[in-house]
Amino acid sequence: MTRGTAIDLCYLVAAITFILALKGLSSPKRARAGTFVAMAGMFLAIFVTFFQPGLHHQLWIYIAMAIGVVIGLPAARLVKMTAMPQLVAIFNGVGGGAAALVSITTFIGSNPKQEATYKVLEVLIGVFIGTVSFSGSAIAFIKLQELITGRPITYPGQQIVNALLALAAIALIVAVLVTASTTLLWILLAVSFVIGIGVVLPIGGADVPVLISLLNSLTGLAVAASGFTLGNNVLIVAGTLVGASGLLLTQMMCKSIGRSLPNILFSAFGSNITAGGGAEGGETRTVRQSTPEDVGVLLSYARKVAIIPGYGLAVAQAQHTVRELADELEAKGVEVFYAIHPVAGRMPGHMNVLLAEANVPYEQLKEMDDANPEMPTCDVALVVGANDTVNPSAKTTPGSPIFGMPIINADEAQHIVFLKRSMRPGFAGVDNDLLFDEKTVLLFGDAKDTLSKLVSAVNAS
Ligand code: TAP
Repeated sequence: MTRGTAIDLCYLVAAITFILALKGLSSPKRARAGTFVAMAGMFLAIFVTFFQPGLHHQLWIYIAMAIGVVIGLPAARLVKMTAMPQLVAIFNGVGGGAAALVSITTFIGSNPKQEATYKVLEVLIGVFIGTVSFSGSAIAFIKLQELITGRPITYPGQQIVNALLALAAIALIVAVLVTASTTLLWILLAVSFVIGIGVVLPIGGADVPVLISLLNSLTGLAVAASGFTLGNNVLIVAGTLVGASGLLLTQMMCKSIGRSLPNILFSAFGSNITAGGGAEGGETRTVRQSTPEDVGVLLSYARKVAIIPGYGLAVAQAQHTVRELADELEAKGVEVFYAIHPVAGRMPGHMNVLLAEANVPYEQLKEMDDANPEMPTCDVALVVGANDTVNPSAKTTPGSPIFGMPIINADEAQHIVFLKRSMRPGFAGVDNDLLFDEKTVLLFGDAKDTLSKLVSAVNAS
């Protein structure tokens, strides 16, 4: 067997591990194993690449890898679960940037006039998509990190400007194909950079995670283009997998928030919502506040309790305490399950990952479609730091910005208990009528503190 064949065989094994890893990631039970399989495949792919004939500048490669490890390892280990979307954005951006750099160096290092047109086109697509993904992800990171406002940033004629820039990029790609001009390549790079910024600026906070998934898919395509450029099979397979799975994930997220992708990309959703309050402005209605002791009694004497976790659970890092409460209740013979909305939190699978970290049994996790038929049979819906994902206006108020988003039907339980810190709305900035429902009581405070008090109260009752 030649060295080339051996390397290709290893790449094939790596590609298979990536597919198995994706399969593993589709279930909370197998997600951790899936991640390890992907890591092993990635290690194999990187390792055998060092045996590629004609690999130059190895010292630089080691230095770049060392820098990557020094930055990436602590970043990934120390990141808070609530800041995970930012981390994904930045990792995704550097992936797109790397793909663009590969394409640029290939263009400069070759003689494009003598290359087949389709080869140069691959390179130019890599430059365009990789750069859009790089600058778009950078802006998404800045927005999520709240370094600038998370709300849509718009100006008159914005969509026309974006459309003109897209046309300019197409014209530049054609011009570079015809002239092989390096100057035009640099202009294409600059225009692509501006397009990435221009497309992301008008997208508002609640939609940024969907956008990151789309940019992730674009990065995959840019990487696949690099794979074609370099004649590297594993890059082609890995890039295509990322492209396809990112697109599917984007579609699933759109469905879960009840909006179409064009609507997310072009409607500047959320730009007319006032900061710090609901869309309807100041709220004068009264709510019913309760005490941990009273709610402890309510929970202890319930037959069935649905715990509905949301972003606030992640902020409070209350996953272990919520499990303690569930354990206490089960010890008293109460049936407990967790109702998981697909976009609860700020990224796909956010709640599953948190609850898995606290060793919540998988059998207690119910996806929205399985949980909703059970809600009318629940004595208590305990809403822990969730808001938009249980807001009935998504079903009942056609004018509401979240109208059409499927929700967990907490309103159908006999009693509803909200754990939150204030009357502030959720991520979409929309007031929640369920807070004022006569079946609802509120326990104000940090979710972890309140849950600890509930554990004691249940224990004592
Ligand atoms: P949200 O609607 O954002 O509500 C979170 C609630 O948690 C808020 O009411 C907040 O109220 C409360 N909270 C925050 N910190 C808390 C703490 N330390 N202790 C107790 N409560 C706390 O969350 P959700 O129901 O999970 O909905 C997710 C939102 O993100 C949806 O709008 C969804 O469309 C959007 N989104 C998610 C994704 C993915 S993939 N997950 C993607 C795109 C968009 P207080 O401030 O009063 O405490």
